[in-house]
Amino acid sequence: MEILTASLLDLNALRKLESACFDKDSWPFLDLIAVLSFPEVIRLKAVDDNQMIGFAAGDPRPSDGFAWIATIGVHPHYQRRGIGRALLRACESQLNVPRIKLTVRMSNFGAVALYEQEGYRTTDIWKAYYDDGEDGVVMEKIKV
Ligand SMILES: CC(C)(COP(=O)(O)OP(=O)(O)OC[C@H]1O[C@@H](n2cnc3c(N)ncnc32)[C@H](O)[C@@H]1OP(=O)(O)O)[C@@H](O)C(=O)NCCC(=O)NCCS
Repeated sequence: MEILTASLLDLNALRKLESACFDKDSWPFLDLIAVLSFPEVIRLKAVDDNQMIGFAAGDPRPSDGFAWIATIGVHPHYQRRGIGRALLRACESQLNVPRIKLTVRMSNFGAVALYEQEGYRTTDIWKAYYDDGEDGVVMEKIKV
């Protein structure tokens, strides 16, 4: 498995990966184009045997002093092999800001466990943040 910078050429693969990973939370097509083309975004893909098996994107907001992890997903067949952690770390290291934030579904215990292990702490709850009314947990990490 290698972690590489993604580009618009990965649009089709990202679409498939998104629907495999996120189902009802999959991003709309235009958001996928944006994440693969906006100049400031950090976009990383995990590749195995020429296939995209994971993806993470970071959105730096230097004027706010923090960045958002905008998305992170690993294909279900490849989960629990350390790929999510590797993508998260690679994305953080390329984000040139001291604080990093992300939002996660309250029920997404696996992702929350990963983020806590990586030093994220809950800083806020956004009520009914997701389309089905579930709350979003805002987590934050100060880079050392
Ligand atoms: C969240 C996600 C990116 C994690 O990717 P991953 O490659 O499976 O994660 P890792 O293998 O690096 O996991 C690292 C640790 O996090 C924790 N963890 C990850 N997934 C877990 C799960 N489903 N249940 C419990 N703990 C979990 C474990 O402690 C794990 O270490 P271990 O496997 O040695 O026990 C992946 O499950 C995913 O794509 N889920 C669907 C999309 C999603 O929910 N994305 C996050 C939105 S905020």
